[in-house]
Amino acid sequence: MAIIQEIKTNNPYYQKERELRNEVLLRPLGIPDFGWEMNDPISWHFVAIENSKVIGCVILCPLDPEKSKAQLMQMAVSRDHQGKGIGKMLVNYLLKFASNQGIKEIIIHSRSNVTSFYTQFGFKVAGDEFEEVGIKHHYLSTSL
Ligand SMILES: CC(C)(COP(=O)(O)OP(=O)(O)OC[C@H]1O[C@@H](n2cnc3c(N)ncnc32)[C@H](O)[C@@H]1OP(=O)(O)O)[C@@H](O)C(=O)NCCC(=O)NCCS
Repeated sequence: MAIIQEIKTNNPYYQKERELRNEVLLRPLGIPDFGWEMNDPISWHFVAIENSKVIGCVILCPLDPEKSKAQLMQMAVSRDHQGKGIGKMLVNYLLKFASNQGIKEIIIHSRSNVTSFYTQFGFKVAGDEFEEVGIKHHYLSTSL
């Protein structure tokens, strides 16, 4: 049974989060390992842990000094654990956390093939598809 935890970057689980992102998000697109960490120091990090392994992760990056708007990024569930509700647990945890922080709006640059994963939580598509890291994306947002 997986549990969701908010962690800081000095937590040993952060290193496992980085590895998971390499495996699930970066390598399949040919992006170098550890190549998308520029937002890590200022973001909140959430990990799904099972048997001391990080099997899922997502970060929430504040976009303004007041922290009223934030971006959900780097969402990944390990291949062996996809389709078992881990992603849903992570997003629900993140939304509750954001609401408790007083965040009013969350945006996502969603890979187009997973847009419907996010719309189930109330995120709405805004604007046209665009390209980022070589693949199609949709801009999504939701108000809390
Ligand atoms: C997309 C991803 C995060 C979803 O996590 P997951 O743990 O596999 O998803 P869950 O098992 O929690 O699924 C929850 C619901 O979303 C749906 N869903 C899962 N993956 C989906 C997808 N790729 N597209 C649309 N819906 C999806 C499920 O059918 C399920 O619906 P249900 O509750 O009605 O049964 C995961 O598959 C993943 O890491 N994919 C590769 C990396 C990626 O694309 N990350 C997102 C970058 S924007």
